[in-house]
Amino acid sequence: MKNVVLIGFMGTGKSSVGRTLAVRLGAAFIDIDEAIETKCGMTVSEIFQKYGEDYFRKCEKEVTFEVASRKNTVIATGGGTVRDEENRKALSESGFIIALTASVEVIAERTAKEGTRPLLEGLSIEEREEKIAKLLDERRGIYENADYTIDTGELSPLQVVEDICRFLRMRRG
Ligand code: S3P
Repeated sequence: MKNVVLIGFMGTGKSSVGRTLAVRLGAAFIDIDEAIETKCGMTVSEIFQKYGEDYFRKCEKEVTFEVASRKNTVIATGGGTVRDEENRKALSESGFIIALTASVEVIAERTAKEGTRPLLEGLSIEEREEKIAKLLDERRGIYENADYTIDTGELSPLQVVEDICRFLRMRRG
């Protein structure tokens, strides 16, 4: 099976959908953020804090290339993984790209928990919404470039999984 690669902004449901989708498809599951944490022996927030974003992106690229060489795997990317053109190319060649989207308000609510999203850390709710809107504007073009797109705002992870399975059945015939 070609891989199924979930892309999209923080809080669009890539990890929870990916985990359930992999079980449904009988495929392996890899979450790029988790794989980076395992490789570095630190959380994503700790990596940002101790070594900065550039170092995180370097680790992210190494992990992305490793996972893109696998088969029969559902891959949940980090929100910024596909900003890098080489990451985008490696992932598109490895499987279907499914983009998950949600509104600024939904994302702000889903990412409210502190300590896990260094790019949205220490901000008031208004500031967080502003930052999300700004980052979304910058990244919109790259998330639009997908084989299939689902707005997850009103859907449960299970409903998103069903939708992806319908798309895969259609594409595989
Ligand atoms: C990031 C998203 C995060 C994580 C890191 C940077 C981003 O992943 O990779 O904090 O640049 O959007 P999630 O989308 O899984 O939260």
